[in-house]
Amino acid sequence: MVHVHVPVFAFLTFLAPHGVTALQRGCGTETASAERVASLEADSAPVTSNTTKTKYFSSTIPVHWHVIRANETYQGGSIPENMIQEQMQTINRVPSDSFLSLVPDSGSEQSMKQTYRKGDVNALNIYTVGFLDGAARWLGIYGYSTWPWDYASVSWNDGVVIKWSTLPGGTEEGFNLGKTATHEIGHWVGLYHTFEGGCESPGDYVFDTTPEDTGAEGCPVGRKTCNGTIGYDPIHNYMDYSTDECMTGFTAGQIVRMRTQLFKYRNVLF
Ligand SMILES: *[C@@H]1O[C@H](CO)[C@@H](O)[C@H](O)[C@H]1NC(C)=O
Ligand SMILES: *[C@@H]1O[C@H](CO)[C@@H](O)[C@H](O)[C@H]1NC(C)=O
Ligand SMILES: *[C@@H]1O[C@H](CO)[C@@H](O)[C@H](O)[C@H]1NC(C)=O
Ligand SMILES: [Zn+2]
Repeated sequence: MVHVHVPVFAFLTFLAPHGVTALQRGCGTETASAERVASLEADSAPVTSNTTKTKYFSSTIPVHWHVIRANETYQGGSIPENMIQEQMQTINRVPSDSFLSLVPDSGSEQSMKQTYRKGDVNALNIYTVGFLDGAARWLGIYGYSTWPWDYASVSWNDGVVIKWSTLPGGTEEGFNLGKTATHEIGHWVGLYHTFEGGCESPGDYVFDTTPEDTGAEGCPVGRKTCNGTIGYDPIHNYMDYSTDECMTGFTAGQIVRMRTQLFKYRNVLF
């Protein structure tokens, strides 16, 4: 049905056509309290490859893609094959009221995920929905993700939910190159926003992302929101709030953190 194994990096980059506006990314991923983050991170001793464990670990991630749709039209959430990357062409297309009504932490979300989520801790479940009819604060949301450290307590909830119109070639102006998926999967592997913690150390717990006070809007080259930092705000980073066209990559430090978190929480070694 939907079981596709892909190398970890294959789905971290979604590429395609164009679209620009000066808008801010709507990410609904909720950050834990400062206390919880501090306690989680205090526990993050550097992970080195443990050769005893290694042979049980997977370096690919099973991807389960659930197209939640109201009907078989694009407006109803049905995504044409060519809007999803080649590796993702095996898709579970399911009719559901959740296309319109889904909001995070709702009964609708719980029922959708409990019905469709597949796989273990290393499986990436992606749901595309509409966010069209939900509570007002979610109307501007393009996506949200759960954190890897929460899998242990609420495994059915684990996964990434994105607005169907943000896929490459979709209709979400400024956000239709697929970077929403990349950004949300970034959270799923344990990366914070680049502006996590504002200008204060330890910020996003990544050493080579310049501290940033708030998320960027549009693509403000030369933006600098913190005093005393070297360089400019990391507006081209996937974990900022810039437009899709503005976002070009992760830093080396983020890749290290990603590997550490994937190993620690998801039994994935790469
Ligand atoms: C490696 O993993 C094994 C099995 O989980 C554990 O018993 C051992 O202590 C670990 N070694 C190191 C150096 O962490
Ligand atoms: C499909 O669903 C969308 C969203 O509810 C709606 O706007 C559209 O009119 C529907 N189209 C058909 C042909 O039912
Ligand atoms: C940076 O310094 C200026 C001038 O002292 C101050 O007005 C501004 O609030 C500071 N910005 C931050 C983010 O601390
Ligand atoms: Zn986010």
